[in-house]
Amino acid sequence: MASSYSHCFYFVFFFVALLLSEVCGNRLGDSGKYPLVVSTWPFVEAVRAAWTAADDGLSAVDAVVEGCSACEELRCDGTVGPGGSPDENGETTIDALVMDGVTMEVGAVAAMKYVKDGIKAARLVMQHTQHTLLVGEPASAFAISMGLPGPTNLSSPESIDKWIKWKENLCQPNFRKNVLSVDSCGPYHAKDAANTCVQANPMGTIESSPSRFGLHSHDTIAMAVIDKMGLIAVGTSTNGATFKIPGRVGDGPIAGSSAYADSDVGACGATGDGDVMMRFLPCYQVVESMRRGMEPKLAAEDAILRITQKYPDFVGAVFAVNKDGMHAGACHGWTFQYSVRSVEMDEVEIFTVQPATVSMFT
Ligand SMILES: *[C@@H]1O[C@H](CO)[C@@H](O)[C@H](O)[C@H]1NC(C)=O
Repeated sequence: MASSYSHCFYFVFFFVALLLSEVCGNRLGDSGKYPLVVSTWPFVEAVRAAWTAADDGLSAVDAVVEGCSACEELRCDGTVGPGGSPDENGETTIDALVMDGVTMEVGAVAAMKYVKDGIKAARLVMQHTQHTLLVGEPASAFAISMGLPGPTNLSSPESIDKWIKWKENLCQPNFRKNVLSVDSCGPYHAKDAANTCVQANPMGTIESSPSRFGLHSHDTIAMAVIDKMGLIAVGTSTNGATFKIPGRVGDGPIAGSSAYADSDVGACGATGDGDVMMRFLPCYQVVESMRRGMEPKLAAEDAILRITQKYPDFVGAVFAVNKDGMHAGACHGWTFQYSVRSVEMDEVEIFTVQPATVSMFT
């Protein structure tokens, strides 16, 4: 009895709500508060593309794909899309991810060759397979079989030029550690065991070699979209780290690390030293912190702090946005910028976040 009463009550409530929202001129679920787009870095064109898509009524997933695709086409910072970030062999590969914050479905590709449309390939994985992550040449074959253009040469004159200069510079800098090499470009051999331990100092922190993530290697677009219905999706796309060891996959295609979304809570996007960040899943932490009531600013700072306690030289950043549209960023080792377009703005706005100079526990 109670249950049928409450059903009846909800039905009447729903009807009244519908009536009220019609009177107020809003479609149900369209509060007028959204869409909202947040992206790492001043990737203004990408944010505009996502905003236009979401404002036209596309879903958060499709809008995030439009936004990240725009960055791939523009080759944002030379580190997204084709033609950037050569690996040790001079080859460019693509990592990308999309996540639906309603169903928690994820599609991702990693170390994908010969296909330039990373985020679209990720969406194909999400929407047309039961898998989450495809890698390497089979990921390329899948993407092409599902209709994406390819095989395409992902190298550009610039990426080849960059690689030749790196070879001339004796393959420095690179990502090897505890190795000896016959000449400076390898082949490499492990140093004998006595010398290979990673030395943790008494604080338990790990001293990494000088960062390879300079101000001009922003390296990742991570984007969150809240669509007109208030539903949330995130996406990422990157070439990964320049001069990486072939086969290396960073945080880009790892849900919870580079990005995470839950439509009940909010979303997060990350950029920076992916090899370190993927050990901490900062975006998962940000969303879970917000779920437990933390404001975006504190959630973002807390996730960065967790990393810098172990890696004081860490370079990276996250943005956090909650389902009410509050957004914030936190960073370490560099000045971070993120871009926002909301209904209150006439244009994309860029927010600058300074790294915390003194962390809370030191
Ligand atoms: C791919 O493009 C690069 C840069 O334009 C060029 O140097 C290279 O020879 C091309 N590779 C193939 C297999 O066509």
